[in-house]
Amino acid sequence: MTTNVSNLQIDAEQLWNDIHDTAQFGATAKGGVKRLTLTAEDEQVRDWFRAACTAAGCEVHVDTLGTIYAIRPGRDMTLEPIGIGSHLDTQPTGGKYDGILGTLAALEVVRTLNRAEIETERPICIVNWTNEEGSRFAPAMMASAVYAGDFTTEDILERRDADGVSVGDALDAIGYRGSEPVGQIRLNSFVELHIEQGPILEAENKTIGVVDHGQGIIWYDGKITGFASHAGATPMPLRRDALAALSEVVLKVEELALAHGPHAVGTIGEVTIANPSRNVIAGDLAFTMDLRSPDSATLDALDRELGAAVAAIAARRRVDIALERVWRKEPTHFNAALVDAVEQATGRLGYSHRRVTSGAGHDACNLSAVMPAAMIFVPCKDGVSHNELEDATQADCAAGANVLLHTVISLAGVAK
Ligand code: GLV
Ligand code: MN
Ligand code: MN
Repeated sequence: MTTNVSNLQIDAEQLWNDIHDTAQFGATAKGGVKRLTLTAEDEQVRDWFRAACTAAGCEVHVDTLGTIYAIRPGRDMTLEPIGIGSHLDTQPTGGKYDGILGTLAALEVVRTLNRAEIETERPICIVNWTNEEGSRFAPAMMASAVYAGDFTTEDILERRDADGVSVGDALDAIGYRGSEPVGQIRLNSFVELHIEQGPILEAENKTIGVVDHGQGIIWYDGKITGFASHAGATPMPLRRDALAALSEVVLKVEELALAHGPHAVGTIGEVTIANPSRNVIAGDLAFTMDLRSPDSATLDALDRELGAAVAAIAARRRVDIALERVWRKEPTHFNAALVDAVEQATGRLGYSHRRVTSGAGHDACNLSAVMPAAMIFVPCKDGVSHNELEDATQADCAAGANVLLHTVISLAGVAK
C-alpha cells in the first residue's frame, strides 16, 4: 500500500457540499432546517443518505426502530465494527449542523478510506440513529436508548406524538420500519462528531473539544389544574389561575438551577393552555421541564427541592400541580482509552484542543453504558444551537472530520 496514512485528510469541500445539499430537506425561510424525526422530510434525507452509503460501497441495514447502519467491510469480518455517526433529525427550529455534521462526516470518512484504498482490519459502521432530538417523540435519543437496553422496542413503538401518531405508525408511513431487531448489529465502540452547542471552544479559540463527560438529564411532564373563569368578573383574590401558578414554577426552576450552579440548568420549553382565550383565566395547562447537571447528586437535589417547591406553590395558589418524571439519564463518563485515542489523533493532526463536558444529550452518551464511546466537538458560532442561526465554519467541520478519520483508523487498524 502506497498511501501515507498519517497524512490522510477528508475532502473538506465534499463534506461542506453534503451538509448544504441535505439542508434542503426541511429548509426553513430563516436558513435553518425543520426535519422532525420520521416525517416526510426525514424520509427524504434518509433516502439520500442510504443511496450515498450504498454508492460508497456500504451494506445498508435498517432496524425495527428505523436506525440506519451502513457497513464498510473490514479485512476480518468476524470482528465487530467501529460505529461512527450521529443523527439526521432536527429540532423544529433546527440548524444545518446538529447531528448532521457527525453523520455526514462519518460518510466522508468512509469515502476517504475508499479513495485512499485503505482496508481496515475491523469493519466500520456509519449509523443514523432515529429520533435523537426528542421533540416529536419523548424521550430524546430513543433508538440508542433501546440499543443500550434502557427501554424495550415494543415500549418505544407505542410512544405517541402530540397528534397521537405512534412511533410504529410513523415508521410505516415513511417506509423505515426495518426488519432487523435493535442491537442485532453489534458495535465494538462508537465515536460521534458534533458541534459543541455551547460557547467554550469559540471563546477559548480551540478547534477541537475532546469530550470526556456528558450531563445527566431529567425530563418531566407537568399539568396544572386551576379553575377557568371570567377575566373581567372574577376578583383577583378568588382566582385559581393555572398560568400564574406556572409562572411561579418557571421562576423557581430558574432559581434552583442558579442556586446549584454553575453546573445545573433548568428549562420549561413547552406550555399548552387548554382552550386558551383572552378573556378566560387559564384553568388547565400542560408543560414540559428539562433539568440537567453533570453530577448525579445535584440532579437528586434539584428533583427533591423542585418537588417541595411545587407542592408549596400548589397549596398557596389552590391549584393542583402534577409533575411526572418521564425520563432520567445519568451523567456520562466516556471511556478513558477512547477519549485518549481522540486526544492523540487531535494532537497528531496539530489542532488546538481542550477537554469538555457535553451540555447536550447525545446517542454516544447512551451507548457509553454498553460499549466504549467518545465524542469530538467543534465550535459553533456564538455557541448557538437548536436555532436556525446555528453556524459553523468549513475549516472546523473538516478538522472535526479529520479527527474522526484518524481516531477510527487507530481503532479499526489498517490491514497489513
Ligand atoms: C438533544 O439535543 C438534547 O440535548 O436534548
Ligand atoms: Mn445532536
Ligand atoms: Mn439537538
